[in-house]
Amino acid sequence: MFARSRAIAPAVMSADSAKPILLFDSGIGGLSVLAALRRYLPQAPVIYAADNAGLPYGQKTEAEIAARVSGLLGRMTERLRPRLVCIACNTASTIALAAVRDVLEVPIVGTVPAIKPAAALTRSGVIGLLGTEATIRQRYVDQLEADFAPTATLLRHAAPDLVTTAEARLRGQTGDPCAVERAVAALRAMPQGGLIDTVVLACTHFPLLAADLAAAFGPGVRLVDGADGIARRIVHLTRGQSFERRVPDLALFTRDEPQLALLRPALMAAGLERAAVF
Ligand code: DGL
Repeated sequence: MFARSRAIAPAVMSADSAKPILLFDSGIGGLSVLAALRRYLPQAPVIYAADNAGLPYGQKTEAEIAARVSGLLGRMTERLRPRLVCIACNTASTIALAAVRDVLEVPIVGTVPAIKPAAALTRSGVIGLLGTEATIRQRYVDQLEADFAPTATLLRHAAPDLVTTAEARLRGQTGDPCAVERAVAALRAMPQGGLIDTVVLACTHFPLLAADLAAAFGPGVRLVDGADGIARRIVHLTRGQSFERRVPDLALFTRDEPQLALLRPALMAAGLERAAVF
């Protein structure tokens, strides 16, 4: 259903002010980061790239994710010439950020679980963390916990069903109606789970379900994600640069599939008026 991006790319390369910011995720989770970025830089030209052919990353091995993300971002950077790349995915960032930074010259902003702000907010000292299976086992997360929440208890739970549910919701479908309740119940059932007052949404898909998660956790729990911090980091790294959107912003997918047509309203709402296959 989508044009191949080769025909579209040159139009966005013409001038520095028209150079896009490239946001990358395995799916539509990075739209939660894009929403924050739009609030700070509404004029910035954006290309949103979803590796839907590789979704979900959360069930892949570290080696698969590192190779896939480095390879794709290498090719995308070469063809699309972004001024900055944002890996709007916790799984890809906690595994491949260093490798990607090693091979690309363009500035790279990653997405890491918002453990630091959560540690500053908790009063009970018990923090929940929802992420993908791959994210919650990363040493990167162990290190964030040791650096920023050494006196807190961090309870981690992998919730891959929330990824599929968020993907379904943005296609106008219901998704698994029990996925949110299950994830909340699993965290609550852990030792000290009843004391959780702050929950890190350590997957960019999960803020898309924030209203459901907030309702399921109840009023005593704050949800924290990294989107606003990422947007501010991008503002910082692009300060002094001019932005000019010469062509409508573009969504790229690594695989064409009939289901993508259902995403059109969500993409349009995110200001992504064109779509293509990379
Ligand atoms: N959006 C991705 C993240 O932030 C994960 C989704 C997936 O499993 O591919 O971790």
